[in-house]
Amino acid sequence: MLDGYVTPPTTEDLWHRRLAAFNAKRFTPGLPGPGWEDDIHDQCQTQIEEGRWLEEFRAKVAPRAAEAPRDPAGFVAWFEELDRSGPGQGDPLFPYLAEQATMDDMRWFLTQEVAGEAGFEDLTAVTQVRLPQRPKLELARNYWDEMGRGNPKGMHGPMLEVLARALRLEPHVETTVWESLALANTMAGLACSRRYAFHSVGAMGVIEQTAPGRSAQVARGLKRLGVRAGDRHYFDLHAILDIKHSAAWNAEAAFPLVEWRPELAPALAEGALMRLECGAACFRRYRKELAIPG
Ligand SMILES: [Fe+2]
Ligand SMILES: [Fe+2]
Repeated sequence: MLDGYVTPPTTEDLWHRRLAAFNAKRFTPGLPGPGWEDDIHDQCQTQIEEGRWLEEFRAKVAPRAAEAPRDPAGFVAWFEELDRSGPGQGDPLFPYLAEQATMDDMRWFLTQEVAGEAGFEDLTAVTQVRLPQRPKLELARNYWDEMGRGNPKGMHGPMLEVLARALRLEPHVETTVWESLALANTMAGLACSRRYAFHSVGAMGVIEQTAPGRSAQVARGLKRLGVRAGDRHYFDLHAILDIKHSAAWNAEAAFPLVEWRPELAPALAEGALMRLECGAACFRRYRKELAIPG
């Protein structure tokens, strides 16, 4: 197992670290300063490179996405099936985490996950801009749950930080495998460009749909390793709440969008498949680093 990520950086490492730094800046509130024109020039260049990378990635999933039905009920059934047959589903990493992982394994896994966390609440907020009413309302309800319905203790992001603090995790971009950075970079790239707004809806919907199974197994592993209930609440919560979130997202965001404009079906499907491919790549890499047979 890697104790830190110490091998020389690959092309993928360098690209995703650069993109992670770009996204950190993209989302961080700031102030006007003298270099703002140069900043915009730099951002333009990086956004073009990001767009080329996303288009290359999109082309890889497009053939499967094209199979998604364009009637809303058929589309949702196809989308739900991804839970069983989508890329990375049923990966042996999760039974291992539930039943066999050592505390060192679990800490390494969670460090990667925390470093690659894209911030679901902000992705929702950015994606919902100018969507039609029904999907907009669903994203608003989901956002409000992410925000603990106004209660700081119920906010999901800080809940993950509680676990990270309890386990003394130290997530850093430099010690994060590129597959995990690529996942966050994909989610940010889809959410931040209006041309991928519907891809973002698909990608976020498939997170809701596939998170409960994985969260339940991570929660089991944390309990087995003696992590206190209060510290592992993030995973216990998502094992249950995301079942409801997923049903609502499919019924109130995916269904009405495809009903409104059937040509959105492949966009939602591509977004979902891109997100699942990112997850699958992470699981493969994590298993390799943790020497788990696959
Ligand atoms: Fe959440
Ligand atoms: Fe959720």
